[in-house]
Amino acid sequence: MPPSHSTRVVLAERPTAQVTPSTFRREVVPFDFKAGPGEVVVKVEYVSIDPAMRGWLNDRRSYVEPVKIGEVMRALGLGEVVQAGEGSGLVPGDRVTGTLGWQEYVVLDSKAVRKVDVPRGAEFLDFLGPLSMTGFTAFVGLLDIGQLKAGETLVVSGAAGATGSIVCQIGKQKGAKVYAIAGSPEKCAWLEKELGVDKALNYKSPTFRDDFKKHVGYFDVFFDNVGGEILDFSLSRMKKNARIVFCGAISDYNGKPKGLTGYLNLISQRARIEGFIVFDHADRFPAALQYFGEMLAEGSLKRKFHIVEGVENAPSAMNLLFTGGNTGKLVVKIAKDSKAKL
Ligand SMILES: NC(=O)c1ccc[n+]([C@@H]2O[C@H](COP(=O)([O-])OP(=O)(O)OC[C@H]3O[C@@H](n4cnc5c(N)ncnc54)[C@H](OP(=O)(O)O)[C@@H]3O)[C@@H](O)[C@H]2O)c1
Repeated sequence: MPPSHSTRVVLAERPTAQVTPSTFRREVVPFDFKAGPGEVVVKVEYVSIDPAMRGWLNDRRSYVEPVKIGEVMRALGLGEVVQAGEGSGLVPGDRVTGTLGWQEYVVLDSKAVRKVDVPRGAEFLDFLGPLSMTGFTAFVGLLDIGQLKAGETLVVSGAAGATGSIVCQIGKQKGAKVYAIAGSPEKCAWLEKELGVDKALNYKSPTFRDDFKKHVGYFDVFFDNVGGEILDFSLSRMKKNARIVFCGAISDYNGKPKGLTGYLNLISQRARIEGFIVFDHADRFPAALQYFGEMLAEGSLKRKFHIVEGVENAPSAMNLLFTGGNTGKLVVKIAKDSKAKL
């Protein structure tokens, strides 16, 4: 017997700084398990928690519409088809990915989901990691926007997070010297010992700027996930023709940016800083899938997932991204009986 109700988390009010207990509301609603023609009912197993979600809560112009008040929180997810309507092209038991949202069950047009066949050496959860937007962002950002070449010096901020940890590994695989920036000694040890970066620097250390000057000197490519003070400092450490891949600025998502002071160096060093949105580079996703697929098959790509249990805990999980509570990819497990693992 399918359950008669589904639990979901909706946006209750727009936050002015970080997400608070009143930002979202948990609702238990009657759920009609009926897939119409071309539709599927999906049981949501895991959802991705991304820094970009904080931006989707603001009522301002961006690359996607803001989430509306009362709407289920938007999130990329993984799930299982439990009912498939006529002409949907899917069958119960198929595993799918799509924008499933913070909820236990969802009815969607089957075109809104993509069937997932887990390749050799990979796991279902990799479709929220290297085989998904996280991996695509690292791949497009570092290789297309950053134009990283063998022998160059690469610096990665937010390096122990989902995107950063993959960027570090691509950097090593491509023959760069890789310097990682993260917020704790434990994260730095993981980056050096497990991911094999050349040196990891703790930005919370009082000697961070001196450590950077001593170990990195000047860089060719900076993959920046953080923005703010670290980005401003990096502007004084560029080699000639350096490229700054401006992927994200998590240090400023909850507040008002203060601005950059070191930008004149972009002129003297003939350097470039470029923002990008991964969705604009869909033509490169097949190449990224092939690249990570090969690394997974040969067992050379390390992944770490930070798993929070229960849809009701998704709002507080979001704040982990801003306090550095996660190492690797942050996800929320919604279906208690999900067999997906890593
Ligand atoms: N452009 C695009 O298309 C695109 C696509 C996906 C993601 N992104 C961006 O990529 C970045 C990383 O996303 P992700 O999903 O991989 O998240 P993540 O790195 O797994 O998590 C965020 C990490 O940022 C660090 N952090 C938080 N506040 C900080 C601060 N004030 N200063 C320095 N570090 C701070 C924390 O680690 P510490 O413990 O090290 O502080 C935290 O673990 C985000 O900025 C996101 O918006 C961009």
